[in-house]
Amino acid sequence: MKSDPEFPQPRYSSCSAIRERKPNIAIDGPAGAGKTTIARLAARRLGFTYISTGALYRAITLGLLKRQVDITEFENSSDQESVLQTMTISVGYDSGEPRICLDGEDVTDRLSDASVTQWVSEVARIPKVRACLLDLQRRCASSGGVVMDGRDIGSFVLPDAEFKFFLTASVEERARRRALELQANGQEVSLEQVRSIIEKRDRIDSTRSVAPLIKAEDAIEIDTTGKSIEEVLDELLSHVTRSVHADRGES
Ligand code: DC
Repeated sequence: MKSDPEFPQPRYSSCSAIRERKPNIAIDGPAGAGKTTIARLAARRLGFTYISTGALYRAITLGLLKRQVDITEFENSSDQESVLQTMTISVGYDSGEPRICLDGEDVTDRLSDASVTQWVSEVARIPKVRACLLDLQRRCASSGGVVMDGRDIGSFVLPDAEFKFFLTASVEERARRRALELQANGQEVSLEQVRSIIEKRDRIDSTRSVAPLIKAEDAIEIDTTGKSIEEVLDELLSHVTRSVHADRGES
């Protein structure tokens, strides 16, 4: 029987050496590679804080949509800074789960809305948007003990993160996972639709001028194709555990 990934495993959670050291862990990779699931579970097992930076870009996208900003025009607008300044984004926690507030309202449950997903890659490639979130992301990680997932965490946001992972998976597998996720949320989508959206997002995320999706030189790549959540989590946490023990001269 496979162990339940939601259920805390004592092997890692009791690792006081890791808790004491509070390293930051960056997890990057393309859409659907499993970053969010793995980052959230890794944080829970280690007793660390989890932050999805995609959620921050999604919150800004929602903020623009709420303000009825035409995002295609906004990309080249001279008003970017003044519009962004009207938005307040903050990260809070409820029973250890991250909650994102936009203009004082908890919008966490709206961040996967189809309209947000449709526009978020366009918003995330705007240099002023990225600059506006950089400071918030770094502040969230300033005390250590954070598992942060995104596209540019190891390469740009937290270049000094002690552990960096880059998760990948074949585009077929990523599309299949996303389609199942959306179907479970009651959204009617075909595998082909999801695959083409993922390919488009990959293209935008990898080719933008500022902080594109890129594997940091010192990141460990984990191909999650055909692996269970538990296998990927185990690979990642084993690496962290081994490394911390090795530094302490333990085997
Ligand atoms: O991980 P996600 O699907 O919630 O990300 C939403 C979008 O935000 C995606 O197009 C990539 C972008 N993003 C980014 O550019 N940089 C990050 N650090 C995180 C997400």
